[in-house]
Amino acid sequence: MMHAAVLHEFGGAPRFEKFPEPEPGDGEVLVRVSAASLTPLARWVTTDRDFARGREVPFICGTEGVGVLEDGSRVSFGVVRSPYGAMAEYAVAPAKLCTPVPEDVDDVTAAALMNPGVSAWNALSWGAKLEKGETVLVLGATGVAGKSAIQVAKLLGAGRVVAAGRNEQVLDTLAGFGADATIPLGQCDADLAEAFRGAAGENGYDVVLDYLWGRPAQVLLDALPRNFLVTSEVRYLQLGHSAGERVSVHANALRRTGVTLGAGAPPRIERLRELYPVVLAHAARGELRVDVEPVGLPEIEQAWRREVPGRRLVVVPEKGR
Ligand SMILES: NC(=O)c1ccc[n+]([C@@H]2O[C@H](COP(=O)([O-])OP(=O)(O)OC[C@H]3O[C@@H](n4cnc5c(N)ncnc54)[C@H](OP(=O)(O)O)[C@@H]3O)[C@@H](O)[C@H]2O)c1
Repeated sequence: MMHAAVLHEFGGAPRFEKFPEPEPGDGEVLVRVSAASLTPLARWVTTDRDFARGREVPFICGTEGVGVLEDGSRVSFGVVRSPYGAMAEYAVAPAKLCTPVPEDVDDVTAAALMNPGVSAWNALSWGAKLEKGETVLVLGATGVAGKSAIQVAKLLGAGRVVAAGRNEQVLDTLAGFGADATIPLGQCDADLAEAFRGAAGENGYDVVLDYLWGRPAQVLLDALPRNFLVTSEVRYLQLGHSAGERVSVHANALRRTGVTLGAGAPPRIERLRELYPVVLAHAARGELRVDVEPVGLPEIEQAWRREVPGRRLVVVPEKGR
């Protein structure tokens, strides 16, 4: 038996318990887990049956992490076979979802950057095809994904990055991550629309990375300048829905603004394997930062219920043993 974070009820918090150790099946490897990130996806798998993809309770939480294989190599891994998960002493993962982790990046950073860092790089480079000097707006810039996206946009050569978010304390720190301007979302719709227009600069936004959807997206889409002859294009990538699942898009918001709306580049395994080392190389040089808070496996139930604005909780099974 091993220790693990076990979910017994959808919508509840996992408990620190004993659970049988996994046995690798065809194409799988056994991983001794060093760090597992508490991402929004890891939470949604426990609340939303669409994200749960057939998982039935009880199951171990955690969809990705960093650990050591039986041959001693250190890898990041993604977990797909329920009832096993990353928040345990051991996990099983498909060998094709394991990627080497270089020595100069610690376990917690490597685990925390996998989801936000790689997805931001994938979205900006492959999805938006960001060009040097372009202007990027990040909606949800106060979250871990948004903070990563600001830095990745700058690393990829963005000329101006505008960061919009709700938590003003975190928003105030974003210049340190490379934001050229910030927009607090807690304004009335008219003021927020004006702030979006004002921060865009003369040529408008080239790329929008939207981790929020809901009201901020609605206000932005309604505020984009409309012309019969479109002079610029906005590549709008819908990446998350922390602020709401739906918006209502006026036909003219698509036809007369030059907006192309989509979800960006699909997360193809080959591309993610190619981008993860790039992300970690920048992390090793201190060019890509993620704020983390390591927690021990026995603390999982309390940690699960905590909000840590702008930071990522990362479960470390060795901690507190
Ligand atoms: N498609 C992809 O590849 C991809 C990759 C990574 C993340 N995501 C998605 O992006 C979203 C954010 O991820 P994350 O890692 O940044 O999560 P996180 O670190 O937990 O941050 C959550 C973010 O959502 C904001 N938020 C929550 N409710 C809000 C509301 N009602 N109005 C405005 N802002 C609100 C928070 O704002 P404050 O802290 O300012 O209150 C914070 O910026 C999630 O939906 C996640 O699944 C998608």
